[in-house]
Amino acid sequence: MPTDRLPEGDEKRAAVREMFDTIAPRYDLVNRLMTFRLDMGIRRRTLESLNLAPRSIVLDLACGTGDFVKALEKRGHRAVGVDLSYGMMANAGFDGRFIQGDLLSLPIADQSVDAAVCGYALRNLVALPPFFTELVRVVKPGGRIALVDVSAPEQKVMRMGYDFHFNRVVPFIGGLLSDRSAYAYLPRSVSYLPPPEEILQMMRDAGLAAPRRRQLTLGIAQLLTADRTAAR
Ligand SMILES: C[S@@+](CC[C@H](N)C(=O)[O-])C[C@H]1O[C@@H](n2cnc3c(N)ncnc32)[C@H](O)[C@@H]1O
Repeated sequence: MPTDRLPEGDEKRAAVREMFDTIAPRYDLVNRLMTFRLDMGIRRRTLESLNLAPRSIVLDLACGTGDFVKALEKRGHRAVGVDLSYGMMANAGFDGRFIQGDLLSLPIADQSVDAAVCGYALRNLVALPPFFTELVRVVKPGGRIALVDVSAPEQKVMRMGYDFHFNRVVPFIGGLLSDRSAYAYLPRSVSYLPPPEEILQMMRDAGLAAPRRRQLTLGIAQLLTADRTAAR
């Protein structure tokens, strides 16, 4: 992954896949250290926001090493993970249902799942509107969607701590244990994310209903939720 400028289009897609294949073996270790396990609470609240009926069929999009797949199965649901990086899924460390594929053209049948969740991947996508269109296509009418990603806290002191952590601590820990250029890219990739109101409008334009954003854990994460209405 080049560190001087951020790639776009097909170049970005190829670079993202290569980067995650490279960091996959130590992804979980670095992730837990970097987030002080705060991600566990964020993941729990993300799943709760789906209001799932028992034994729901749920897609974990950009599943990586399958944290949401595992949590969903543990709660009695049937989860399927989809990710561009074979390496990430191969390092899941448990037997789950995984499919290699791109979120912008999902290898999933129309209206076949009850809900979809996606963790920390929006900024890695080449474009957001085709992803939201795919969500409308694959989720059954009445289904729920929850997308969680990083966010910069609004409160000043929190923001300073966040900037220091992401720009200094993350590349340092990532460099020690994994691949420094990848972990220098991750904080920079946040600039790919459009402002919240723009993302919500893209979700509306794609046909997702009642899109809503809330910040979690003092603003270090943002949770975007929406409904797949019966109208389409
Ligand atoms: C930061 S990781 C998050 C992994 C996992 N969701 C989690 O919460 O730990 C981002 C993941 O998005 C995947 N990804 C990026 N672009 C993708 C795309 N276009 N289609 C499918 N997966 C993609 C990467 O391969 C990587 O596994």
